[in-house]
Amino acid sequence: MILTHRPAPNLQTLTGDLIALLEREKRRGRDYLRLGPAGRQTLAVLTASVAAGRPGTPARMRSTAGPPRIEAGPALEQLHEKIRNCRSCPLGGGRRQAVPGEGPATADVMVVGEGPGEEEDRLGQPFVGPAGELLTRMLLAIDLPREKVFIGNVVKCRPPGNRNPEAGEIRACFPFLQEQVRLIKPRLLVALGGVAARALTGSERGISEIRGKSFSWEGRLVIPTYHPAYLLRSPEYKREAWEDLKKIRRELERLIANDL
Ligand code: URA
Repeated sequence: MILTHRPAPNLQTLTGDLIALLEREKRRGRDYLRLGPAGRQTLAVLTASVAAGRPGTPARMRSTAGPPRIEAGPALEQLHEKIRNCRSCPLGGGRRQAVPGEGPATADVMVVGEGPGEEEDRLGQPFVGPAGELLTRMLLAIDLPREKVFIGNVVKCRPPGNRNPEAGEIRACFPFLQEQVRLIKPRLLVALGGVAARALTGSERGISEIRGKSFSWEGRLVIPTYHPAYLLRSPEYKREAWEDLKKIRRELERLIANDL
């Protein structure tokens, strides 16, 4: 009798694939899990451990700065629960739900947009409308599957009529973004559009002037680029956005190589 040896399915790989599948379905409006806080916390821990164990995921556990990153999952979920209940500014009164952000607590890259739009407010997830689809393609073009990136916003609740968030609203929400960055410790932040770029760089210059340049915030590298919603309206700027994306990829590789 000939016995053929097949490698045993790797539980971590299966779990990771299952999580990715459920997240994709949720983005399409099919939320099979409908998790409460305890379930979300469990899922956050699973997601973090899968991301930490996946081949190609840098050995972030070696980091000497702060506790091992795998423990960031539950703390991040707690923070997100706080965000969901927040009423610190008037936006909290007009939203359907807050959108804390999503992605692994161990993400190397954090993308920061302006604030949720109508679809995001309905689904409770960031960048799920047409701009989100373009963002997903932009990330994939530099070999970053969306599931590996943490995607958040400067303000977590939808400004009425999709207007820009006001200074007071940004100020009220900013500590949440700071805490997310402290927990996730991304190697690199991408600021999408003028509002995020101003908030993360402190620069008052327009996005077309500062896009593709390097800044530092909370001790982390920040690279601004155009917001995907702007690129949908003005596709002539996609070439410049592509240059920025290539720089983001190069910088990420440098940071990983030096374990920064
Ligand atoms: N635009 C943003 O800035 N953020 C979102 O989450 C969606 C659209």
